[in-house]
Amino acid sequence: MKIYSSLAPMAGFTDMPFRVICSELGVSHTVSEMISAAAICYKDKKTAELCRISEREAPCALQLFGHDPAQMAYAAEELICKAEEGKKPVAIDINMGCPVKKIVTSGDGSALMKTPEVAEAVVRAVYKVTERYNVPLWVKIRAGWNSGSINASEFAKMLADCGTSLITVHGRTREQMYMPSSDNGVIRSVREAVPEKIPVIGNGDVCSYADAVRMINETGCDGVAVGRAALGDPWIFRSMAEGTEYQASVEERINMALRLTRDVVSLKGELCGIREARGRAAHFIRGIRGSAVVREKLNRAVSLSEFSEILSTLKEQQEL
Ligand SMILES: Cc1cc2nc3c(=O)[nH]c(=O)nc-3n(C[C@H](O)[C@H](O)[C@H](O)COP(=O)(O)O)c2cc1C
Repeated sequence: MKIYSSLAPMAGFTDMPFRVICSELGVSHTVSEMISAAAICYKDKKTAELCRISEREAPCALQLFGHDPAQMAYAAEELICKAEEGKKPVAIDINMGCPVKKIVTSGDGSALMKTPEVAEAVVRAVYKVTERYNVPLWVKIRAGWNSGSINASEFAKMLADCGTSLITVHGRTREQMYMPSSDNGVIRSVREAVPEKIPVIGNGDVCSYADAVRMINETGCDGVAVGRAALGDPWIFRSMAEGTEYQASVEERINMALRLTRDVVSLKGELCGIREARGRAAHFIRGIRGSAVVREKLNRAVSLSEFSEILSTLKEQQEL
C-alpha cells in the first residue's frame, strides 16, 4: 500500500537542504520550519531566509505562527507574493500545535486551541488572503490543550467551516508535549468530524512504514506526517512512496550525513552550518558501530573538511 506522506514541520531541521533530501526520497509534501508572522511584519532578514523554497523540492507549505489576525494575514500575503515563480508555497500552514513555553505564553501555537475565537479570527483573516491568490490554507493542531480540554474534533470542524483545506493533527495535548504516546483515537475523531474532501494527515510517533499503515487503518486518515523519525531516516518517505519498508545501509546513512552537512554549509556558511550540522549528522549515525566516539569528534569539528574526514573514517571502520 502506497501512503501519502508529509515531512512534519520542525524548527531547526526542516530547512531547504533537508526538504530537498526528503523530496528526492519521495515525500508527498513538506512543511517549512515555523515562521514568525510578527518577524515578517518587521521585515527581519533572518526570517526571510526561512521562507525560501527550491525548485528541486516536492510541494512545500510555509508555516506561520502568530495570533494577531492582521499580522497573520499580512505575513501570508508577503509569503505568497514575495516567492519567485516556480518557488511558490503549495499552501500556507498555520501552526496551532507548538507546545513551547515561549510560543504559548504569547498566545501562539497550541495556545490557540484554548482560545478558539482567536483561532477562528486568525483563520478567517488568513483565508481572505489565500483565497484571493488561490493558495490553499492548511492548519496543524494537537489533540487539545490538556486532558480536560480535548477539543480537536470541534476545533477541526470550525477550521473546515472557515476555509481550511487540509488539517494535520498530532494526537497529543499541549500538556503531554511529546510523552506518552500519541492517541490515534483523536486523529480518528478529527477524520470523522470534517467533510471527506478535506484531507486529514495523522501525526505522532510514526517511525516506520508499518506504523504508518497502522495509523491509517486505525484512524482512516488520508496520509501521515513524520517528524522526529525522519531526522535520521528520511528513507521512511521512500518506504511510503513504494509501499514497502526500505532499510538504508550504514554506508547510505553516513553518506547522507555528509551530504546534508555539505548542503547546510553551502546555504548558511561554514561557521553556522557546521555548528548546526553536528546534531543533525548525529541522527543519521545513531546506532552505527563507533558512532558515540564520532559524535564527540563532530562536536569539536569546526570545518567541513574535518567533518568529512571524521565521517569517512567511520565509514572505513565499518568495512574492516
Ligand atoms: C525539534 C522539533 C521542532 C518542531 N518544530 C515544529 C514547528 O516548527 N511547527 C510545528 O507545527 N510543529 C513542530 N514540531 C512538532 C512536529 O511537527 C510533530 O508534530 C511532532 O514531532 C510529533 O511528530 P513525530 O512523533 O513524528 O515527531 C517540532 C518537533 C520537534 C521535535
